[in-house]
Amino acid sequence: MLVNATEMLKKAKAEGYAVGQFNINNLEWTKAVLLTAEECKSPVILGVSEGAGKYMTGYKTVAAMVKAMIEELNITVPVALHLDHGSYEGAKKCIDAGFSSIMFDGSHYPIEENVAKTKELVELAHSLGISVEAEVGSIGGEEDGVVGKGEVADANECKMIADLGIDFLAAGIGNIHGKYPANWQGLDFEALEAIKNATEGMPLVLHGGTGIPADMIQKAISLGVAKINVNTECQLSFAAATREYIEAGKDQQGKGYDPRKLLLPGFEAIKATVKEKMELFGSVNKA
Ligand code: 13P
Repeated sequence: MLVNATEMLKKAKAEGYAVGQFNINNLEWTKAVLLTAEECKSPVILGVSEGAGKYMTGYKTVAAMVKAMIEELNITVPVALHLDHGSYEGAKKCIDAGFSSIMFDGSHYPIEENVAKTKELVELAHSLGISVEAEVGSIGGEEDGVVGKGEVADANECKMIADLGIDFLAAGIGNIHGKYPANWQGLDFEALEAIKNATEGMPLVLHGGTGIPADMIQKAISLGVAKINVNTECQLSFAAATREYIEAGKDQQGKGYDPRKLLLPGFEAIKATVKEKMELFGSVNKA
């Protein structure tokens, strides 16, 4: 069932768990995430970065594929199709293409401009029943060309953006896209607590979910995080399983080169990673 992400995240916040956003790259990725969500009876958010949208030939292709797959696979759990780190133009395109949720990442603009652009997109998206995520501070590292310095979000600025009527807020709290460096200082829970207090009931979003230790995930959820984004971890699982298959020479045995066989271990590996995350985030049996 394709829905916006508002209700699923309100429920998650009220009941003390988080819904996973898993970024998709192609048909195998999408199918793996949807089937796992259904098996786990978990709500789920499919994240699409602008780079991944372009790779899949455009947002219309993605929206059509996701809608058809939900129907053909009989997916009954709530699924949101969400633009990840969208630009102003990208957000408008996804609204037109039939996404059920968008993120506008105006964190690199001065706060006044972030406020003005977010406000405009909230009005447009909400008139069509589409949910909106905004960002304050920034996520360190790089994802599909979106680079952040990792500034910790200012609680007052978070309140300014939350007051625009957005549905959920991504705030930089020392989190990083991609693998965490060995000398990573961990999440800034003081900042998270200040943001939680300043934004009252707002569901908060933790980006850079790959490699954050379980105890930090649980503490973040207890401080208002209701959505956790995972991208790199599925890529690493897919790559490792594919490498193992090829290094074992299985692509050269029988018809092991058949793409449906060649991509199967990676597909299964994504499913296992998604299941593990849904269990850790507490969203199993919450659909
Ligand atoms: P990771 O790639 O670090 O899991 O981050 C995902 C993310 O935050 C998507 O916006």
